[in-house]
Amino acid sequence: MNNLYAIYGASGCGRSLMPVAREHLVRLGIQAEIYFIDDALTTIEEVNTHKAMNYTHFKALPHEQKYVLIAIANSRIREKITNQLLNDDINLWSVRSNTTIVMDDVQIASGAALSPFVTITSNIKIGKCFHANLYSYVEHDCVIGDYVTFAPGVKCNGNIHIEDHAYIGTGAVIKQGTPDKPLVIGKGAIVGMGAVVTKSVPAGVTVVGNPAKILEKK
Ligand SMILES: CC(C)(COP(=O)(O)OP(=O)(O)OC[C@H]1O[C@@H](n2cnc3c(N)ncnc32)[C@H](O)[C@@H]1OP(=O)(O)O)[C@@H](O)C(=O)NCCC(=O)NCCS
Repeated sequence: MNNLYAIYGASGCGRSLMPVAREHLVRLGIQAEIYFIDDALTTIEEVNTHKAMNYTHFKALPHEQKYVLIAIANSRIREKITNQLLNDDINLWSVRSNTTIVMDDVQIASGAALSPFVTITSNIKIGKCFHANLYSYVEHDCVIGDYVTFAPGVKCNGNIHIEDHAYIGTGAVIKQGTPDKPLVIGKGAIVGMGAVVTKSVPAGVTVVGNPAKILEKK
């Protein structure tokens, strides 16, 4: 019996990652259909020529091994779905584009989505379900936690630590740290699009601007 592959989420994120997933399988010489999973669906439909169904339908398909990439930007939802998949003995699937570059001594946990033109340089550790959108890069000696999300064009320079569930907006630039004093983006912090981050960011806050400052809640 063949393995079965799916992308969880048929919104913008999932539809943009489907071609990446297709080329990923071609690169590995695997011939298999890739499905969309979307819990808003009650019947089996078609999205961009791929079969799309809800999770209950997907779970019922009789395949030996199932691999699922979670293509949902909200990291808390990614975590919830991860727990559900693991509970159901379904594997987290990682995909990367043919134009993604990964250099030396890089550890990336399962469930990663590395979009076109992403570069991960050397001596980097990345946790579960990382999303690196178009043209983002991660420079040397960074440590990235679980469920971290990079929107397109994030410039993450060397010796930066990004904790679990942080979200980095489009085009943000983060200043490098040093080996003994990494710049830290705290757990669940949000960096706004276009921000220039020059200092560590506490957990849970949102920062915007150049230089980035905390956006106070109104
Ligand atoms: C920072 C961010 C999370 C704030 O979102 P929010 O809490 O909904 O904030 P609001 O849109 O209500 O804006 C609040 C204030 O911050 C300002 N602001 C919002 N985002 C900003 C940014 N990136 N840079 C500078 N100022 C920003 C707004 O102009 C507004 O200012 P005002 O109160 O003077 O009018 C959001 O604007 C952002 O940058 N998200 C990332 C988007 C992205 O990269 N998407 C990629 C999709 S693939």
